[in-house]
Amino acid sequence: MLTYPAQSERTISMSVNWSSYSLQELKQHITHTFRSGGGSRPDVLLIEIDGQRAVLKDQAGAARFFSLLIGPILSWRESKALKKLDALSCIPTLLAQPTARSFLMTYHPSEPITRLRTIDPDWAIFFDRLSASIDAMHRAGVAHNDLRNPTNTLITADGEPIMVDLVAAFLRGHKWNLPNQWIFNKFCQVDQSAITKMKALVAPTLVKDEDIVAEEIAGRFGMAIRSLGQWIRKLSRRLFTD
Ligand SMILES: Nc1ncnc2c1ncn2[C@@H]1O[C@H](COP(=O)(O)OP(=O)(O)OP(=O)(O)O)[C@@H](O)[C@H]1O
Ligand SMILES: [Mg+2]
Repeated sequence: MLTYPAQSERTISMSVNWSSYSLQELKQHITHTFRSGGGSRPDVLLIEIDGQRAVLKDQAGAARFFSLLIGPILSWRESKALKKLDALSCIPTLLAQPTARSFLMTYHPSEPITRLRTIDPDWAIFFDRLSASIDAMHRAGVAHNDLRNPTNTLITADGEPIMVDLVAAFLRGHKWNLPNQWIFNKFCQVDQSAITKMKALVAPTLVKDEDIVAEEIAGRFGMAIRSLGQWIRKLSRRLFTD
């Protein structure tokens, strides 16, 4: 079973220069494994140096061919989205990129909303905050695109939402790029439909008639694209993992 680290952070006077550490050096300071890699999944590790903590996401933990061929692209995509959202406190900040397949980000003591252990949220307040955070992310030009997986939304002890796992994020392009604008808007609606899905999972009484559901956004064309996406994912797993 997964265990989550304690909530308290030590007070530190000097800040660690995370980019001065190699991947190997960082891995000597693992204090917790959020998820072990394998197949198409990366290692997600908690690193602690001089009392300060950061999260290392390393695609080298995935199966060999997947890690070699797809790993750098995934790591680049996620780092790019994190950089774009640097100003938002609901998204981890990129700290360093020790290799082409890995990056280090700020650690946010929290629990995934569907795996609460110690936090007892006021869901109405949480979902208002989450909705505002998602709007801010969209205004900054990023659609998350994987919020329908509830393990990507975390809650802090103060009830603040943190969104992780931006590997599938879609970035808004130039105004004149109309296909990009259309897709971006659709993905923004998919993010909003994720709120409805999360409410249904943890606080069903908060679901309102006007809340967006996925099928309404997508229509037949969108559902076909979704099945195509799932098919491509399955195929790439078959081809590139052991
Ligand atoms: N910056 C962070 N601060 C705190 N916890 C984090 C952070 N990043 C990731 N985690 C924890 O690690 C888990 C896995 O991270 P992430 O979702 O990025 O990887 P993943 O490969 O998609 O894993 P999964 O398939 O389980 O979603 C998250 O659900 C969360 O519990
Ligand atoms: Mg995830």
